[in-house]
Parts: sequence; structure tokens; C-alpha cells
Amino acid sequence: MIRPDYLLFDRTSQAIINNFPKKAVQRMLDFDHVAGRELPSVACIVYPSSVGLEKFFFGSAEILIPVVKTIAEATDQFPDADVFIDFASYRSAYYSAREALENEHIRTVVIIAEGIAERRTRELIKLAHDRDKWLIGPSTVGGVSAGAFRIGDSGGAMECMIASQLHRPGHVGLVTKSGGLSSECYNLIANHTDGIFEGIAIGGDLYPGSSFADHLSRMNRNPEIKMLVCLGEVGGSGEYEIIEAIKDGRITKPVVAWVTGSCASLFTTEVQFGHAGAKSGVESESSQAKNAAMKAAGVIVPHSFDDFGDRIKEVFDELKAEGNIPDVVDIAPHELPEEFAKMTKAGKVRRASSIVCTISDDRGEEATYNKIPISQFVSESKGIGSVIGHLWFKKELPAEISGFIEKVLVLTADHGPAVSGAHNAIVTARAGKDLISSLVSGLLTIGPRFGGALDEAAQYFADALDRGISPEVFIKEMKDKGIPIPGIGHRIKSTKNPDTRVTLVKEYAAKHFKKTPTLNYALQVEQLTTAKKSNLILNVDGVIAACFVDILRYSGVFTPAEANEYIEIGILNGLFALGRSIGLIGHILDQKRLKQGLYRHAWDDIAYI
Ligand code: ACO
Ligand code: LMR
Repeated sequence: MIRPDYLLFDRTSQAIINNFPKKAVQRMLDFDHVAGRELPSVACIVYPSSVGLEKFFFGSAEILIPVVKTIAEATDQFPDADVFIDFASYRSAYYSAREALENEHIRTVVIIAEGIAERRTRELIKLAHDRDKWLIGPSTVGGVSAGAFRIGDSGGAMECMIASQLHRPGHVGLVTKSGGLSSECYNLIANHTDGIFEGIAIGGDLYPGSSFADHLSRMNRNPEIKMLVCLGEVGGSGEYEIIEAIKDGRITKPVVAWVTGSCASLFTTEVQFGHAGAKSGVESESSQAKNAAMKAAGVIVPHSFDDFGDRIKEVFDELKAEGNIPDVVDIAPHELPEEFAKMTKAGKVRRASSIVCTISDDRGEEATYNKIPISQFVSESKGIGSVIGHLWFKKELPAEISGFIEKVLVLTADHGPAVSGAHNAIVTARAGKDLISSLVSGLLTIGPRFGGALDEAAQYFADALDRGISPEVFIKEMKDKGIPIPGIGHRIKSTKNPDTRVTLVKEYAAKHFKKTPTLNYALQVEQLTTAKKSNLILNVDGVIAACFVDILRYSGVFTPAEANEYIEIGILNGLFALGRSIGLIGHILDQKRLKQGLYRHAWDDIAYI
């Protein structure tokens, strides 16, 4: 799209953003919405480490903005995007700005960074000049074309932009050095005229990429702009170039200008204000000298910033009275949807949540487990048993219970490569699958026959006890139902080859628990089943389950309702799954370390019937 030479931006202008200033991009798009633009003002973002598509709001809708690797890719994909807004740091902005200036599609380059070496900036200025490009900045917020295009964060908060009538064009052209004061001027001009058509902050460096005179004479050629306003500052000689431009006829429209920093003369020493270029010292660069020189050249110069607005108004009213300024079409700004997070924080909206969580929270500075910061678990040397207590039971468990949990994790961590879970994890790892897939494959074997009999064991033993039936009756009932008693029986362990893990759990319970009625009951069942067959022992699942029912019911830590709820919900298979994950991961790593190839089961180990 070819625009007149005096027009850098219009309602169809699109920018390529360098670096990833997510908030600034969103603010540009918010301005687009408020101004009623149809095309987003951001075409794409150049950010090599996050290539893809990035979600942004355009009004209340969500849009995807491409993120590409290089400037060349950006202009290949978006050849009409002729504005390059460079948010790179002062260390790298020179290189990206240079590349953008050398790119045939880019017409205007804006450099936001402050602190670029002046020698580098001067190279960029020359390059821009040689290639007939516009360079705005460095050290600038950019500028605004009212109702058309916003550069990055220019104009401040959206409320201020709307109050300053930036959502629709007026008839005043503004050039400032300072970005902050440009917002102040937008407001001042809106209060004293019909608002700005375009405002540019050339930036606070000693060598701005484009000067007051460059922009004022460009705006002078714009028939929509009827008067010019300029806010300079102490230091530099840009204001004298305005005088030159007036003298040689590049600026013919009325100019109202003020140079800030008049207080510098009150200091006995040189004064450096915020900007690199705002330095007092040279008399001709003082606010007083520059204001006087501009006044002598026909610029309307107020007495101070206080009557800057009044002078602007006088000129505007005069032009209006002469019929030189048409009425603006007062377009209402499109309402910007409120941020949901902001409204929620302010208590202005409510929404039924989809998920409830009572065990942890990561919204604050530090995530918590059951309201306790994670660091406290570390500083108080709480073990994994305590963490499980808080995350599973929402309680600080006494040492004997958290100790029990830790013992269970140790005892169930692994039982060699032959057991179902390890075997599956090994086969999966050897099929080339990653650690998590292999782990999940192993975990999925945990169930009623292998490692996952704890919950049902707890439920059956607790129920039998509650009903007061004898172990004999219980065994008969289960046999009649055709259900193997969960927690009883083992493939290789028996009375002759006892399971040490079971012995250790029993010993722990005997030493630490107040009462063990459920364990005692399970052992009575075992007496009867092992009398029939020596491998029908109380197995590791069964002994852990029975002990945990005793913890839940008789430790005094849980209410009867809580105890029953946990038995009913089924929490204990989690203990085996957690413990066994340690061993499964070990087996997976072992296979990967050993570079084991694809597993194929031996034919001679399969009965082909
Ligand atoms: N309750 C009652 N009788 C049983 C039980 C049991 N839990 N387990 C086996 N039997 C009986 C069978 O009915 C069968 O009797 P029969 O000879 O009169 O027909 C006999 O014992 C052998 O049965 P199998 O199924 O061949 O026994 P196996 O040794 O293969 O079973 C297993 C081992 C799967 C663990 C089995 O005992 C069982 O299902 N137990 C319940 C589930 C359980 O606790 N699993 C966890 C084991 S520990 C772990 O995986 C970490
Ligand atoms: C285990 O802990 O994995 C074993 O008790 C199961 C088995 O089959 O040996």
C-alpha cells in the first residue's frame, strides 16, 4: 500500500515487532479495537526462540499473531507491513534496526531502546537518510496517529488515550522529544483543540533518528494537519532546525512551541535532566535561548508551560474562525472489554469455577502444600511421609504414621525385573519408548492381582470386622462368592519362604501402633488360608492395607467418618503405585543404560495351541 510521503501511518498500517513485548503488542491491538480498526496493527513478531503462533485479544475475540525467526521471513510473509518497531535491548537494537532499514519493505523504523552508542545511532541515521527511510528514536516511546495507529505503549493507559481523543483524528500535528510529555501534550491539545492528528516523540538521545524539523515539515505537507505543536527540551539544537525550516518554507503552518528546562539557569552548575540529550551548559542550547530564537522566527512561544495550552487554543480558535479547520466527526471509542483477572480482583464479576482444590496453591509467591509453603517442609526437614500427610490427608501426621508411610515406600520400591509392572516397563523401554510412557506402562499393571490389592483388602477386612464375622465365615463367604481374598496369596512367597517385607511391616505395627485389630484379624485369616496352602500368606499388599485400616481407625488422628471415607474412596493403592514408581524408573533407566534392543518373547516360551 502506497501512502503519501507525509503519512507514516494510517488505519491499514501494520507493524513488524522485534523482540517479544507481549504487553506492548496487546496495547497496540487494544488501541486498534478502540479506534475501530479492522486490521490488527501488528502483522507479526520476530522472536527466534518462540517461533509459531501467539494468542492475543483483538477486542473480545482472540487472534493468532505469527512469531517468526528473522526479519526477512517477516517481510516475506507480510510485505505490506512497512513499520518496524524494535523492542530489542540497547545491545542488539543497532543490528536489528540496521537490517530493517536495509529491508526494501520497511519504511519506518522505531527504536525504543535507550542507551545505544551514539556512534551506532549516527550510522543508522545515515543509513536511513541514504535509503530514504524514517527512523524514530532511539530512546522513544514512539508516537500515535490518532484513530489509526499506535506505536507500542505510546499514549499511556487506554483511559488517558480516550480522554485525549486519540481514538479519532483531530487537526493538530505534535512533535516532542519526551515520550512521557507526549502523553501530557495529547491531553493538553485535546483540551484546547479538536485533538491531534499525529504525535511523534523523537526520543531523548543526543542524536535522534529523525528531528523536530523532519517531522514538523512532513506534517506541514499533510493537508489534514492545520497547525503544529512542538515541545522541546534543554540541550541539543533541534529547535534551531525548526527555525531553518520556517525560513526556507518547509514549515508554513502556525507552530506553537515551548522548550522545557528553563529552571536549568537557576543551577550554578551544568544540569543533566532525564534524557541523554537534555543537558544544560551551552548557552545557545538553553531553554531561554531556544525559546527566544523560535519566538523571533515567528513561532508562537508561551511564557511558560502553564500557558502553553492557552497559546495552542488561540491559534486553533483563530484557524477555526477563519474556516480553515473542518468539524471533526466525533466517533465514540469502541469499548475495550475489561480484563477478566482485573475484574475478578476488583470483585466485579463472579463465575462458578470448574475445578475445586483444597490441597495446594501456586498463586502466591511460593506454592504451598495444604497452606504450608514448600520451603517450610525443607527448613523443618519434613520427610516425604509428612508431604504425603498434607497432600493426601490434609494433616500433619504424627511421626509413627509418616514413618510408616516412608517404610512402605522403601519396602515396595522394587521387587526385581520379573514382576508384572517391572516386566511391562522393561518391555516398553526396550520398544524405544520414553521414560514416562514406560513408567505409565508399568504402572498400568498395578491392579487386583498385582500390587493393587490394598484398597480391596482394606475394605474386606474392615467390613468383616465391622460385621463381627469370624475369619472362618469370612473365608467361606469369599469362597462362595468366588473372590480371592485381596491381600492373601503370593506367587513365590509362602510360609516356607516368608516375605521379609511383611515381617518388617508387622514389626513396625507392633512397635508403634496403639491397637492393631485389623492386622490381627488378617493374620487369623492367614492362619487358616496357609493351613490349606502354604502360599496363601498375608502378602505385602494385605499387611500394609490391614495396618493402614488400624492407623485410620485407632491412631486417634482421623475421625471415624474420615477413616471410613478413606477406606471407601480407596487411597492405599496409591502407596504401592508411589513406591513402585521408584523401581520402575530404575528398571527403565537400567534398560536404556544397557542399550537393550527390542524385546521379543521367545517362541519356546509360548504354548501354540
Ligand atoms: N484367597 C483365597 N484363595 C486363594 C487366593 C486368595 N487370595 N489366592 C489363591 N487362592 C487359591 C485359589 O483359589 C486356588 O485354589 P485351588 O487350588 O483350590 O483351586 C489356589 O489358591 C491357587 O490359586 P492361583 O490363582 O493359582 O494362585 P497364585 O499363586 O497364582 O495367585 C495371586 C497369586 C494372584 C497373588 C493370588 O493369590 C491372588 O489373586 N491374591 C489376591 C490378590 C492379591 O493380594 N494380590 C497382591 C499380591 S502381592 C503383590 O502383587 C505385590
Ligand atoms: C512385588 O512386590 O512386586 C511382588 O510381591 C509381586 C510378585 O509377583 O512377586
